[in-house]
Amino acid sequence: MKIFLIGFMGSGKSSVGRVLAQKLNLNFYDTDHEIVATTGKSIHEIFEKDGEAHFRELEKLTLQNLQHKENCVIACGGGLPCHNDLINVINKQGISIYLKLSSERLFDRLQKDAEKRPLLLGKNETEMKKYISDLLDEREFYYSQSQFKISIKDHSPEEVAEAITQLIK
Ligand code: S3P
Repeated sequence: MKIFLIGFMGSGKSSVGRVLAQKLNLNFYDTDHEIVATTGKSIHEIFEKDGEAHFRELEKLTLQNLQHKENCVIACGGGLPCHNDLINVINKQGISIYLKLSSERLFDRLQKDAEKRPLLLGKNETEMKKYISDLLDEREFYYSQSQFKISIKDHSPEEVAEAITQLIK
């Protein structure tokens, strides 16, 4: 079994992924962590020095490198399925699950650690709200091509992981 978690930044893919992998006795991968490990650079550094287009190529390579891994949960970076036709690559390789949150909830979650996300850097509250809402609208086209969708409100990673196990039974 190979499960891909997709969704916007701050939707909890990594924390849910870790819990889910443990629950189902699968390995866990996080595409951002893979990129940091292989390049030796932070995501921030890659965006700043090499640019977003290069980062998207690294995401594509990362997915290729994980292609032959089985029995795993992969938490994908928020933009990964929305570039280079990767949503289709994901859907060919395994089960895709979209962790869906409203842009208001995403804003609340992201506000706390915006400095960790290069795409949100330097934006004030109003700008960030608009950016999240616009980007989410744009990305919904890709996210909605996932095979399963979970709507998240105030659910804990454990609750979401449990809902996923029921969904894919
Ligand atoms: C991005 C999401 C981030 C990271 C990078 C770009 C995006 O991952 O890949 O900052 O384009 O939405 P998370 O979704 O894990 O925050």
